[in-house]
Amino acid sequence: MDLSKLDFRRGNGDSLYDQLVDALESAIEEGQLAPGARLPSERELAGLLKLSRTTTTNAYRELESRGVLRRHVGRGTFVCATPEPDEIPFAWRGKVSATALRSANPALRNLMRDGVDPGVISLALGGPALELFPAAEYRRITAEVLKREPLAALGHGPTEGQPRLRRMLAARIGAKPDGILVVAGSQQGLDLLAKCLVDPGDAVIVDRPCYLGAIQTFRAAGAKLAGWDIRRCDLGELEDLILRYRPKMIYTNPTFQNPTGHTLSLSQRRELLKLVARYRVPVIEDDTYRDLYLDAPAPPSLRQLDEYSVVIYLSTFSKTLAPGLRLGWIAASEVIVDQLSMLKQNTDMYSPSLTQLVIAEILHSGLFEEHLRKLREEHAWRRDALIGALERHAPARILSFTRPPGGAYVWCRLSRGLTTARLLPQARAMGMVFASGEVFYCDEAGTHHLRLCFTSSPVERLEEGARRLGKALEACCAAGPSDVFTVAVV
Ligand SMILES: Cc1ncc(COP(=O)(O)O)c(C=O)c1O
Repeated sequence: MDLSKLDFRRGNGDSLYDQLVDALESAIEEGQLAPGARLPSERELAGLLKLSRTTTTNAYRELESRGVLRRHVGRGTFVCATPEPDEIPFAWRGKVSATALRSANPALRNLMRDGVDPGVISLALGGPALELFPAAEYRRITAEVLKREPLAALGHGPTEGQPRLRRMLAARIGAKPDGILVVAGSQQGLDLLAKCLVDPGDAVIVDRPCYLGAIQTFRAAGAKLAGWDIRRCDLGELEDLILRYRPKMIYTNPTFQNPTGHTLSLSQRRELLKLVARYRVPVIEDDTYRDLYLDAPAPPSLRQLDEYSVVIYLSTFSKTLAPGLRLGWIAASEVIVDQLSMLKQNTDMYSPSLTQLVIAEILHSGLFEEHLRKLREEHAWRRDALIGALERHAPARILSFTRPPGGAYVWCRLSRGLTTARLLPQARAMGMVFASGEVFYCDEAGTHHLRLCFTSSPVERLEEGARRLGKALEACCAAGPSDVFTVAVV
């Protein structure tokens, strides 16, 4: 505000001092002088308004005593923020950083919430058959580790991970221990990779459809996403996308993919690697579901086939042991592992040491392989149970799906124009939830798709979940042709 234009009238009977105090106070109340604004010195103000310095000095003193101004020796006089009335809540939203505001999609968090509501059969969240978790052995090994190496288990640990676990993981995938970073679940791995490789505005190519946590994380890092249809696996299309978007990296989940269950063949893997090596685009291979084959093992990972050193590999124990352990790992060039560990130190310093040492022992003892065998058997049974139940309860003319050869999900398509936006509230009302297709697309598609997890619920709950879904489908159909039958299928 230009203080020479202060509403300040002489000769109205009040003293100049009173008038100046009133004029300054009104300007502050009306917001013409904002909190934090610096006022001219007493001498400057006196010159500006043709007043004596005593008048301006006394006026500033009076306003300071009323809590309206604050004077700092050597720095000047500032307008104070007036206290908000008690009933006005503090405006926290305005304090949130622009970076944090890019994380505005609650889809992943909502899935977690539905997953813990005992009254709802949730086929939305992916996880292993926890009933098979080797709890007694886990307790025994935990006690042994605490006895044998209490300092390593309970004290601070290296950011890159416990050396023993890094060695075990490296041996499993034929890598060097220095090329392994232990992370708090592969979701943390994705977050670190996004921070490490993506600048705001960079393009990233992701599967279409894609694991939703990857979409959210790369978006939060400011990436522009382009989707590549992993099931069609048209490498000409991928080359077009590379040429058009010049991506910083490609993220793919090529083995028992989330959400489709799709797996790239050996020759497709080789061709894909040749293409990305030609354009020097790094690939993040998310290999979360490799051990969860139900019919036959998958072809080698992109990492195993990679002759060009373009692949960063990511995996987790969330789908094989338990998601609550929050333990995953990245295998990458040592340069990248070093940079990622710089980022991890700022996030959580290191992953829980005791859990790492127990898992290292579970791997070493052969218990993990034994557990995987049982898990695959149980998961195959659950898959077949869900598919059987869907065939019984959901009309095939409305809900279609394919039988996944591994992983954790049945990917379904709704026909006759029925959308999940319409179906999900009905299903919730019937006491079951699923993951809606849209969250797996970076381009707003997927409105006619849904994902059902078959691994995390026992057979009876799968049967009941499918029955409730069938009822919800029936209710949508009964809602009338305007809703279900006349909307064009896109
Ligand atoms: C493909 C994929 N990557 C990563 C994750 C995250 O796993 P974690 O629990 O290890 O963070 C999931 C979980 O569903 C997933 O499906």
